[in-house]
Amino acid sequence: MKKILDVLTNELESAFRAAGYDAKNAKASVSNRPDLCQYQCNGAMALAKEAHKAPIMIANEVAEKLAESEIIVDVNAVNPGFLNFNISPEFLEKYLNDMASDERFGVEKEGSAKKIVVDFGGPNVAKPLHVGHLRSAIIGESIKRICKYMGNEVIGDIHLGDWGLQMGLIITELKKRQPDLPYFDDSFEGEYPEEAPFTISELEEIYPTASAKSKEDEVYKKEALEATFKLQTGNKGYRAIWKHIMSVSVADLKKNYQNLNVSFDWWKGESDVQDDIAPMVDDLKSRGFAYESEGALVVDVALESDTKEVPPCMILKSDGAALYTTTDLATLLQRKSLFGPDQVIYVVDKRQDMHFVQVFRCAKKTGIVDEDVKLDFVGFGTMNGKDGKPFKTREGGVMRLEVLLNDINEEMYKKITGNHDIEEAEARAISKTVGLAAVKYGDLSNQATKDYVFDIDKFTSFEGNTGPYILYTIVRIKSILNKYVEAGNSIEGLKIGKAANASELGLSLELTKLSAMLENAYMELAPHKICAYIYDVANAFNSFYHENKILTEEDKEKQTGWIALLLLTKGVLEMCIDLLGFEAPEHM
Ligand code: ARG
Repeated sequence: MKKILDVLTNELESAFRAAGYDAKNAKASVSNRPDLCQYQCNGAMALAKEAHKAPIMIANEVAEKLAESEIIVDVNAVNPGFLNFNISPEFLEKYLNDMASDERFGVEKEGSAKKIVVDFGGPNVAKPLHVGHLRSAIIGESIKRICKYMGNEVIGDIHLGDWGLQMGLIITELKKRQPDLPYFDDSFEGEYPEEAPFTISELEEIYPTASAKSKEDEVYKKEALEATFKLQTGNKGYRAIWKHIMSVSVADLKKNYQNLNVSFDWWKGESDVQDDIAPMVDDLKSRGFAYESEGALVVDVALESDTKEVPPCMILKSDGAALYTTTDLATLLQRKSLFGPDQVIYVVDKRQDMHFVQVFRCAKKTGIVDEDVKLDFVGFGTMNGKDGKPFKTREGGVMRLEVLLNDINEEMYKKITGNHDIEEAEARAISKTVGLAAVKYGDLSNQATKDYVFDIDKFTSFEGNTGPYILYTIVRIKSILNKYVEAGNSIEGLKIGKAANASELGLSLELTKLSAMLENAYMELAPHKICAYIYDVANAFNSFYHENKILTEEDKEKQTGWIALLLLTKGVLEMCIDLLGFEAPEHM
């Protein structure tokens, strides 16, 4: 379906032409004086100079032509040359019914389906998920869903950090604790045990212990570096431990991401491209892109237009080791051969901005990705505590994601059981659903680049711009519809009528903005635009609800029209929260 502003713009264009003017400035926009009119057009002002006429005269002439329009009504030309107008009740009625009868509510897919990789999550194996990973998971999941909805073929890739020093540290610590394990015996010829020599909780304790030791103890650190090197150069026993670390850790990650309603199509990681690095480096050298500088191998990526310094992209350190950058470049090569994406979107902490500037430029310059491939960096800000510093536990430690989600669920549980009598199991289930919405909406409603304060009281509130408020609105609609059906009515085949009053009109106009909003959220990779939209829709719905007695309305035609409008509102809200990655319960 055509976006409502496009329909209005077309109508304006005809009127401008009919009045003898160029139509290029005939653009409709939502009124910035909703007390006066619904829409406006400022085109007459831009024409004044070339037409040698006062803008108000042009506006008047166009207004006259608009008298014939069946879509644009109540036209007013006002000084100095604005056109104020409304859309006709008939057209609005038709537009809403068209939306309601389309399973996509009139949202069109992007013309040509693209292949898109969304690189998000990015946890590091063997380290517990903490709140720092939360934002990438939440924003990435939403961007993935939006891109899919707009008709693209999308791969979500978790891009595990599974190859660095952390592996060497774990192996070193394990060797100290259990030196007799066969993995450490170079002469061992048999089959290694199938069972991992540690559980996930042990693993999560081993890593920080080892990491702390290596910071204080040079010898220990050297051992860990050696272990990393042995692993990377193919030591059999170390590879076997690595596999155990991976399977134990990935199983736990899967469980955690599932709790967040976040999923990935690919579980690839840094380790998957290690064999591609040497040939890639050779190629970059032989084609003259990479050269030696102070012992390291680098590719220049600075541009003359740079306002701040962009250092050369380092491919190999002076000791010959590959870097984070190298791995990301090799990963782009791998994605090209496996999938051939038109676009790759990275959802990563904005402090990695420079890393991605270097990777993107190097990839384009060297042809690792083709010129027309779009590389996007969606850098997000920090989630802070109420003290304005990065979010920590009460004791000042790193907050584990599991703990944070439990805290939210507990808070929701208190609120839900405080409101009314409800069975324990049901209350728990609802708390989980609403709690997740609270966390996700709390995050997504902010522009991604901004830091935000994680405020449990605010996020779990049923009032204001929060996830629970949106869900509460949906549940309210469901409850009205249920009561309507329980009274023996059918909700099939109902038609929305002409708006009968201001609150109904307000809700109707909000709903018509869906297509343009979603297209914009997609183009700008900006889930917060969906949040802002559904907050407006929820507010408009709640005003409508408070001002009209829907279930006791005696005029049956009016009532069925309202029920149809409720169905559309519910459909639109549910579709939007699905794109944000959460859902509404039946009751709450
Ligand atoms: N594992 C990385 C980290 O914790 C994030 C990975 C982001 N993705 C990427 N392709 N570099 O910082």
